[in-house]
Amino acid sequence: MACQYFAPCEHGAESFTIDIPKVTFGRGVLHEVGERAKALSMNDIALFTDPYLENGPYVTSVKKSLKDAGLSCEIFSDIRIEPDDVCVDDAAKFLRSGSFDGVISVGGGSVIDTAKAAMVCAKYPRPVRDYFAPPVGEGIAIPGPLYPHIACPTTAGTGSECTSISVLRIRELDTKFVFASPYMLPDVALVDPTCCDTLASNVVASTGFDLLSHALECYTAKAYTQWGAIENPNARPLTQGANPWSDLAAAKALEIAGEYLVRGFKDASDHEARDQLMWGATLAGMAFGNSGTHLPHALSYGVTHLMKDITTDDYAVKTPFVPHGISVIVTAPATFRYTAEAAPERHLEAAMYLKSNTNGAESKDSGEILSTRIIELMREVNIPNGLQGVGFSEQDIKNLSESSIRQTRAIGNSPRETNMVDIENIYSDALSYW
Ligand SMILES: [Fe+2]
Repeated sequence: MACQYFAPCEHGAESFTIDIPKVTFGRGVLHEVGERAKALSMNDIALFTDPYLENGPYVTSVKKSLKDAGLSCEIFSDIRIEPDDVCVDDAAKFLRSGSFDGVISVGGGSVIDTAKAAMVCAKYPRPVRDYFAPPVGEGIAIPGPLYPHIACPTTAGTGSECTSISVLRIRELDTKFVFASPYMLPDVALVDPTCCDTLASNVVASTGFDLLSHALECYTAKAYTQWGAIENPNARPLTQGANPWSDLAAAKALEIAGEYLVRGFKDASDHEARDQLMWGATLAGMAFGNSGTHLPHALSYGVTHLMKDITTDDYAVKTPFVPHGISVIVTAPATFRYTAEAAPERHLEAAMYLKSNTNGAESKDSGEILSTRIIELMREVNIPNGLQGVGFSEQDIKNLSESSIRQTRAIGNSPRETNMVDIENIYSDALSYW
């Protein structure tokens, strides 16, 4: 089945690249950070984190490990959830202001993504927006290496420690966009599931659905052979489509999400579940970092752009805010109902990995089976009921679609050719599920 999916196409790509950092996973690995930094020849370290983590146990143990290794560090913690280009400019100024020779990021996706982008702007000064693809920016390629970077995630969702992308809100457009370069891939990822022990259950739910959707989108993305042949091997886009590597990591991440998401949500003391979710997030990062996501992520940007008076429990954010994982998953059931006809076996396999009962199922039912399983999981961990659950109505569909259609590469990674009307139909089907 896999061979069929990756069948050669005329003028299609014939190869794929796997790009991942040196990953160390396990309880307590944050204590290794000092020796790891030394091995990367770091002496003066810029330590990126956020205001909530700055005085907490993880940053404290990182600082101690660095001190024990005889290294010095200075902290930049002025990073908010959903960081924007202005935040990146400030972080880049901080980096330029010192004689730093290495970066360590300790936090969720917002912290790691800010660190990546700040390194770009500190090394090669330009407004960060210039590095985004047109029409958002100038599409300037990052010219060369950045600082050595050790990424230490504190949530089980983002996968950013394993990817060469940064997602930022462009303040002027009030929308998130993605930019990518192999130079932004961290050198080392230290993934310590201890960091998830104290996560609030709503954060586990949201980040867990982010990982689940990363894996689902990888597994159902357009095959890499369907993208055009690679002309410049050094500029091979990371959104290269599903491939045998991303399949491997995504399938395992789906099994983990199917087995442990609800358990990790319900019981903070269930270390097995929370550790597995952290591993699943890392695997999903290694997968989507080498395949790209597709429609649920593309459509999530309209949701975060246009949301209004939403407040979300367990997040220390005062402004209206929909957590990333929720913005992604509210359209996912409708999306997979739509995409299934282009790759029915893949959707059925994905449902099976998520522990759906697929006995006797036929290919034609795969979209419904997969979306039913996602909805079942959403309900078990109190995810809002579709777009209406996060404050949207039918009247918002046009604006949501106009906002999301700008995510061209992700939309192009859908297994099914997707236009504006299709996107409107998906949003419409995503208004509510139960
Ligand atoms: Fe995501």
